[in-house]
Amino acid sequence: MNLKRVLLALTLLPLMAGAAEVASPGGDVKLKFYLDDDGRPTYELTYKGRPVVLPSHLGLELATDKHASMGMEEHSLMDGFELVDEQTSEFDDTWQPVWGETHNIRNHYVEYLATLSQQWRSAPPKTASTHLLQPRQHERHIAIRFRIYDDGIGLRYEFPQQQELNYFLIQEERTEFRMTGDHTAWWLPGDYDTQEQETQESKLSEIRSRMHNAVNWGNSSVAVFSETGVQTSLQMKSADGLYINIHEAACADYATMHLELVDAQTRQLTTQLSGTSNAYTPNPKASAYKLPQPFTFVSHLTPDATGLKGCMQTPCNSPWRTIIVSDDARDMLSSNLILNLNEPCALDDVSWIHPTKYCGVWWEMIVGKSSWNYTDEFPSIQLDNIDWTKVKPNGRHAANNEKVKRYIDFAAKNGLDEVLVEGWNVGWEDWANMWKRDVFDFVTPYPDFDIKMLNDYAHSKGVKLLMHHETSSSTQNYERHIKEAYELMNKYGYDAVKTGYVGDIIPRGDHHYSQSMNNHYLYVVKEAAKHHIMVNAHEATRPTGLCRTYPNLVGNESARGTEYEAFGGSRPDHTCILPFTRLQGGPMDYTPGIFVTKLSEWSDNTSWARITIAGSLALYLTMYSPLQMAADLPEHYERFDDAFQFIRDVACDWDESIYLEAEPADYITVARKAKGTDNWFIGGKCDEQGHEAVVKLDFLDKGRKYECTIYQDAKDAHYETNPQAYVITKKTVKAGQTLKLHEAPGGGFAVSLMAL
Ligand code: NOJ
Ligand code: CA
Repeated sequence: MNLKRVLLALTLLPLMAGAAEVASPGGDVKLKFYLDDDGRPTYELTYKGRPVVLPSHLGLELATDKHASMGMEEHSLMDGFELVDEQTSEFDDTWQPVWGETHNIRNHYVEYLATLSQQWRSAPPKTASTHLLQPRQHERHIAIRFRIYDDGIGLRYEFPQQQELNYFLIQEERTEFRMTGDHTAWWLPGDYDTQEQETQESKLSEIRSRMHNAVNWGNSSVAVFSETGVQTSLQMKSADGLYINIHEAACADYATMHLELVDAQTRQLTTQLSGTSNAYTPNPKASAYKLPQPFTFVSHLTPDATGLKGCMQTPCNSPWRTIIVSDDARDMLSSNLILNLNEPCALDDVSWIHPTKYCGVWWEMIVGKSSWNYTDEFPSIQLDNIDWTKVKPNGRHAANNEKVKRYIDFAAKNGLDEVLVEGWNVGWEDWANMWKRDVFDFVTPYPDFDIKMLNDYAHSKGVKLLMHHETSSSTQNYERHIKEAYELMNKYGYDAVKTGYVGDIIPRGDHHYSQSMNNHYLYVVKEAAKHHIMVNAHEATRPTGLCRTYPNLVGNESARGTEYEAFGGSRPDHTCILPFTRLQGGPMDYTPGIFVTKLSEWSDNTSWARITIAGSLALYLTMYSPLQMAADLPEHYERFDDAFQFIRDVACDWDESIYLEAEPADYITVARKAKGTDNWFIGGKCDEQGHEAVVKLDFLDKGRKYECTIYQDAKDAHYETNPQAYVITKKTVKAGQTLKLHEAPGGGFAVSLMAL
């Protein structure tokens, strides 16, 4: 570890009374911080001298706690601050992730810490009966910490423990991000419960008019909150070519942040709140929030069932609010800002965490050809009242011994590490959106799934089964069963679990992205770590880089995955956007690899995947994840075994990654060096327009030869009309040569370069 913390307190440049300007290590990013005339914390950001964030306020509105306030008027953390201390320091460290896109990650920033004091006199109480309620003088401190990198900033609120700020309730966080104009944005509707929408590409000024149609109303849990509310990570591009991304890092014990845009029509920001309970009294002062200028995003936290946005106990802090900025789109993809803002690994032993390629008994159920449930006999079931050996099977249950063995054989033959089996455990008969608490017990297999035999069989072939725990969002039920569930996994040798949170959250009224739910997801990851289990959570909150601290969090869904290719399809540019947005916070279990894209060829499903086979191969490179699925059926891969060779060969852990070409929603080309080897892989994925990639092999070792296999779209390939037309060519190449690669509309290419 090369830790270097140098105090540079004297380098502060006073611009005006109380204003500080702090530059990133290389000087491209500059932060200005000051208190405005009302004592409101205010910041500005520039990149290479060009404005990125215009003067924007920071602050939090607090709610009145009916138990603690005793009639004293609550005072928010919004204004009336004085700067009492400021410190600047530089930090430069290089660390190694347990798995990742690169072997080394440099964490180099300049930090600016402003300590603020707020003093006020409480109003005379109307019903005072004790001396405690007499008007008196109050003082409290908070700090705002900024880290300024060469590719952006992180900022967070810190709340030291003190008499006047001990327990407190957040009504809303009001972190502002005032943009410089009507940028192009790639956005999802702000929603407390789902991210499974298609991305909208529009001007900021068009968000309001496009909101209604952008919502995925058919999702199993939907809670939109505002006509201009959007999710993070939000990718934007300014008219003068700046790429700007807003997200958050290290969101723990805090609600997930959305952004609400102030546009020309905004009269008032959403102040409340979908909760029904009156567990707290809304703070009347909050409605006095002064509307910022148009093109300002204001943070909007996810409420819990009571409508509250945060229940805090000092000392504590908010997550980091992140702004990544560059004039080169490739820098958006190679940025490590979010990982760097997370805490180092909290696990002592990480030897059991490993990158994983897997297949699974999954796609045929998603497509509708077979079922998770074992019987169709009952309108509903109660787990305690059924003798499963006596029920009538429906004949469509996929997780049966014979089929699972077939998948194990396929995995063993093709060097895949694990086989996911969904629908192995009892309870699927009425699993979704019944608001049923005891929906699964996570330990009882269906009668046709012999858990011991199948695990023994898999292990004898060097393969593991990958556990599945759909919770149906019944979180208390999962927490109640988690110990036995993980003990069962340990007993049979499972080392990874895919969890799921389909449907509205139980306890009712809570939301997928609230503080309490975020605590649940992290609790699961920590419990899993105790049992040496890796976690891949679907429908859980969007990642914010916590996988640095808990590297057993190897995957998340938290976006529209491949499953939607069976639910009507996703646009071909979808996968050229996700790396700029969803993947900023951590890897996605996108479940790529569909080769037979027209589902009607083998099922009654008329939906189809908008991608070519070569494009599917590219996703193993362009959608970085240490967990990669080969999602299609074994028999489909057997039909295209020469193309499947790439999935057999491709790594999912890397020593180096070089983004060669990138433009949001158009194309992404990346070269990666497989961990611990001299082999390189290159992938290129494009939108519906097609793309001609030119790849200079100047990253290869000089003087070395490589066996190069190119998998690319045939000249007449097309995601709709001719998706299975690909060409495989082999040649020997060396550093300095150039590859010209054709990507059909909705297609892509994949290249393996094996060192000779
Ligand atoms: C939704 C998940 O995204 C999908 O992968 C899974 O098969 C179903 N839920 C059932 O758990
Ligand atoms: Ca899903």
